Amino acid sequence: MRTRMRTNRAAALAALLSMLCLDAGAAGGSIERGRYLAKIGGCNDCHTPGYGLSGGQVPEAQWLVGDQIGWNGPWGTTYPSNLRLYFQKVSESEWLKAAREKQLRPPMPWFALRDMSDEDLVSLHRFIRTLGPAGEPAPAYLPPGVEPQGPAIRFPQPPS
Ligand code: HEC
Repeated sequence: MRTRMRTNRAAALAALLSMLCLDAGAAGGSIERGRYLAKIGGCNDCHTPGYGLSGGQVPEAQWLVGDQIGWNGPWGTTYPSNLRLYFQKVSESEWLKAAREKQLRPPMPWFALRDMSDEDLVSLHRFIRTLGPAGEPAPAYLPPGVEPQGPAIRFPQPPS
C-alpha cells in the first residue's frame, strides 16, 4: 500500500514536471529574451520610429509599430512593417515557418530570422504579442519606378 502511494506520487510529480516543461514552450523561449532580442537584434532600429535617433529612448509601449519612412533603392520602396499588428495574427508555428522560408525585400535582414534558433524566434513572438496591438499598418510596398510620396531614405544604384 505504502509503495503504491509512493509510486503514484512519483508519477504525479513526473506528470507535473512535464507539464511545466511544456508550458515553457517546446523551444524554451521567454518574454524577457524576446525583449532583449528586439533591443539588440536591430528590430527596434527599423521598426520603431525614432529609436535610433533617440539612442533607444523610446518607451516600450511605442516599440515596433512600423515606420512611415520608406527605404528606396533598386528593389522599389519598402516600409518597416507594423510588427505589433503582424504578430497578433500570426501563430507561433506560422511564425517559425515564415521566419525560415519567407524572403523579404531589403533592407529587412530576413536571413537573420532564418538563421535564428527556434528558441529566439519563439521568444520574439511571445514578447511582441505581449506588447499587444498598436499603431497603424505601414504604407504599402511600392515597386521600382514609383515615387514615394512621403519621406524616404535613398540607396544609390549599385555600380554596374
Ligand atoms: C534595416 C532595417 C530593418 C531591420 C534591422 C529589421 N527589419 Fe524587419 N522589415 C524591414 C522592412 C523594410 C520590412 C518590409 C519588407 C518588405 O516589404 O518586403 C520588414 C519586414 C519585416 C517582417 C514582415 C512582416 C509582414 O508584414 O509580413 C517581419 C516579420 C520583420 N520585418 C521582423 C523583424 C524582426 C523580428 C527584426 C529584428 C530581428 C527586424 N525585422 C529587423 C526593415 C528592417
